[in-house]
Amino acid sequence: MPPFLSSFSLLFIFSSVSVSSRLTNSWNYTAKVPLEGTPFRLSTPLIGEDGKIYSCSEKTLFAFESNGFIAWSLDLDFKCNVSMPPVHGGRGTMYLVAEQRVLKVNFLKMGTSESATQVFFGPGPGQHKPGEIIGVAVSTLSSLVFINVKNRGLFAFAMHGQLLWSVGPVLDQFGYRQGCRRTVTDCYFTSVPVIDQCEASIYISNSQGELYSLSIRSPHFNWIQDFSSFDKVYTVTPGNNGRLYLIIPFKAFVLALDASSGNVLWQGSTGPLCAAEYAPVVDSNGWISVGSLDGFVYSFSPTGTLKKFSNSATLDSVIQVSPLLACSGYAIYISQTKMSGKIIHTNGGFTYVSAMKPRTAVFSLLVPATGSIYWSESYPGQFSSLLSQSDLQHFVLDESLLLALVSAASQKLASSCSQARPKPPGLYTGKYLTRYINYGILK
Ligand SMILES: *[C@@H]1O[C@H](CO)[C@@H](O)[C@H](O)[C@H]1NC(C)=O
Ligand SMILES: *[C@@H]1O[C@H](CO)[C@@H](O)[C@H](O)[C@H]1NC(C)=O
Repeated sequence: MPPFLSSFSLLFIFSSVSVSSRLTNSWNYTAKVPLEGTPFRLSTPLIGEDGKIYSCSEKTLFAFESNGFIAWSLDLDFKCNVSMPPVHGGRGTMYLVAEQRVLKVNFLKMGTSESATQVFFGPGPGQHKPGEIIGVAVSTLSSLVFINVKNRGLFAFAMHGQLLWSVGPVLDQFGYRQGCRRTVTDCYFTSVPVIDQCEASIYISNSQGELYSLSIRSPHFNWIQDFSSFDKVYTVTPGNNGRLYLIIPFKAFVLALDASSGNVLWQGSTGPLCAAEYAPVVDSNGWISVGSLDGFVYSFSPTGTLKKFSNSATLDSVIQVSPLLACSGYAIYISQTKMSGKIIHTNGGFTYVSAMKPRTAVFSLLVPATGSIYWSESYPGQFSSLLSQSDLQHFVLDESLLLALVSAASQKLASSCSQARPKPPGLYTGKYLTRYINYGILK
């Protein structure tokens, strides 16, 4: 853990019952509530194109409506990895990582005689496991699936399952070694592959801090850039606008790269960030936004001009979950958590944030390019009273799931996604949630 990161966790726990569903390949859902044990933990959510929120828990994939009720669930044969969100696969399909396998889920087969799930990548019964799956990416435009397997390399598959190519972090071309410049020992791809739809490229980094751009069609390196002088740990976000962004969380740094060369265009600083896998959002105006533990959203214009935003008293707020892009493409949903105690201090060039006891979360819709904030909603509040009566009461709710629900609920009410001015989610009325428990840990 880097020194400047405070170590606290925020969990919104409603109750301690668990739910299980027992319907395979069916759109039916019957809630069985055993009333014992700990609430189920849900994976990082994916907001589907249908506005549903997809998340898995143990051996079940759930599709939630934005009001927190389960639309349907599907039993899986393997326990899914909750640290990886499901990946949208286009046309009723989704990919999930479960027990060192990649599962393909085909919703259109649900309720038919065919199985809705299949092992897309991974061992059959009695076969050796291929190794730890670090990440999956899908290019729906070109119908390709990319899988990074630790120490094995990057594998490209056609959606029907045929292996097209694979590549490791080192290529010998014309007598030159490309990749793992320092040493090939212990050098492997460490990141979730990300796809740049505009460049038809895929980006992946290795354990030495080198970033690769590959053509999605062949195992060919477009370029390799070494960012280890900044850090070996960073996240990569394509702008799909000729730019590529690196967030270096431990240094609280944003780098904008030229997607065609990997050269640095500009760099900027943010406040301290919550997690090593921090993901920013890039909106349709080309602004990149990052939420910081100091309570501010840092938004950079395409040329690197910084604007800082806050919609609540930043003095006692932190932002610990990544913003989400609204369906209009121009606005972002943010969640600021009000804490009952927060201390920021600097030491040796690092900023440390310590915070404890989250009290409320404030969700807002922000347009970074104009600085307009369209609405805000507190949690607990109207929204939570609705959720408290929904199926979600049986799960551990974290702030990223809440933000996904809030954004899905408000987008449902926006009459058109092309509007840059979605309406507030004024749907929910009801009594204040009283079973709300929260806690923070200050280490
Ligand atoms: C739900 O299950 C019941 C009983 O098994 C069945 O009659 C009904 O058709 C199912 N509904 C759907 C939408 O599958
Ligand atoms: C989930 O995936 C991450 C990333 O590959 C891995 O570090 C972790 O061990 C996995 N968890 C389980 C339970 O397999």
